[in-house]
Amino acid sequence: MSVKKIAVIGGGTMGSGIALTAATNGIEAVVVDISEEQLSRAKEYHKKQVARAVSKERMTQEEADASLAILSYVNSLDEASDACWAVEAATENIDVKKTIFKHMFETFAEHVVLATNTSSISITDLSSAIPEAANRVIGMHFFNPVPVMKLVEIIKGKETSEETTNATIALSEQMGKIPVPANDSAGFVSNRVLMPMINEAFHAWTDGVADPEAIDSIMKLGCAFPMGPLRLADYIGLDVCRDIMMVMYDGLEENPKYLPNKKLVELVEAGHLGDKSGQGVYEYGKNN
Ligand code: CAA
Repeated sequence: MSVKKIAVIGGGTMGSGIALTAATNGIEAVVVDISEEQLSRAKEYHKKQVARAVSKERMTQEEADASLAILSYVNSLDEASDACWAVEAATENIDVKKTIFKHMFETFAEHVVLATNTSSISITDLSSAIPEAANRVIGMHFFNPVPVMKLVEIIKGKETSEETTNATIALSEQMGKIPVPANDSAGFVSNRVLMPMINEAFHAWTDGVADPEAIDSIMKLGCAFPMGPLRLADYIGLDVCRDIMMVMYDGLEENPKYLPNKKLVELVEAGHLGDKSGQGVYEYGKNN
């Protein structure tokens, strides 16, 4: 059975990307965020992306208008309560997510799947916030930029039902994505592999093996990465990278190999978060 309307909780980079991907695949999407500024940014992003798709002839003007017409933006979860699917894409913090999940449980009908776009936090842990509905909680991990990246990493918690899992696989496909399962271990597969590589690139930089430009060029030209690991860290957000590494450190027996590099932590503490703050490993112009 196809999904008609999804609620996306969180209008940041990931949330707005998920909503756009839903809408361009014919699924009504409502973006929920308490910040008006975040909602305006999401709306602008949606307009810009469909206009680009039209100019590149990937979409007709009618299709673009139809996508924008099924996107909406609201401040409270209550205004999205008629959705038949919910995906949380808020800050990577377990306490924040648990509070949102309790609210999602109270708001949506009892058949609604309560998915999370967490990139590292245990689904079983998260679902403990709503034991009555733990069978409906699942990890639905998208990748940035969501409209472009094909993968959705699907993570079942201990209590996640087969029905929830099958429905999540079906929705991912309905959104034009390729779902791939991973077990509920800190960082799952994607970040278990990606974050140590990013961290090692920082070590290579701070140990003086090469400067950032050379590290990124070597990995791009020699290993066919679309972006070098330091450029990618800025793109993901250095704060997000640090938080994911700490979730992995805590969740994987405090193995020191997952501790974030000192330089990475210093940049975050100085407010240099990457593309979104205009400075990270690299400096960016206003339009990056
Ligand atoms: N939204 C929508 N579309 C976008 C986009 C965005 N934010 N950014 C780029 N695109 C589209 C462009 O419109 C363009 O499409 P067309 O060619 O059809 O016009 C296409 O992507 C390529 O973009 P560009 O030509 O501007 O630039 P590029 O060729 O350098 O590609 C990139 C940009 C797709 C981001 C590419 O550099 C890339 O794949 N980088 C790696 C991204 C990656 O690894 N993401 C995963 C991060 S990890 C994560 O998200 C999960 C986590 O838990 C941390």
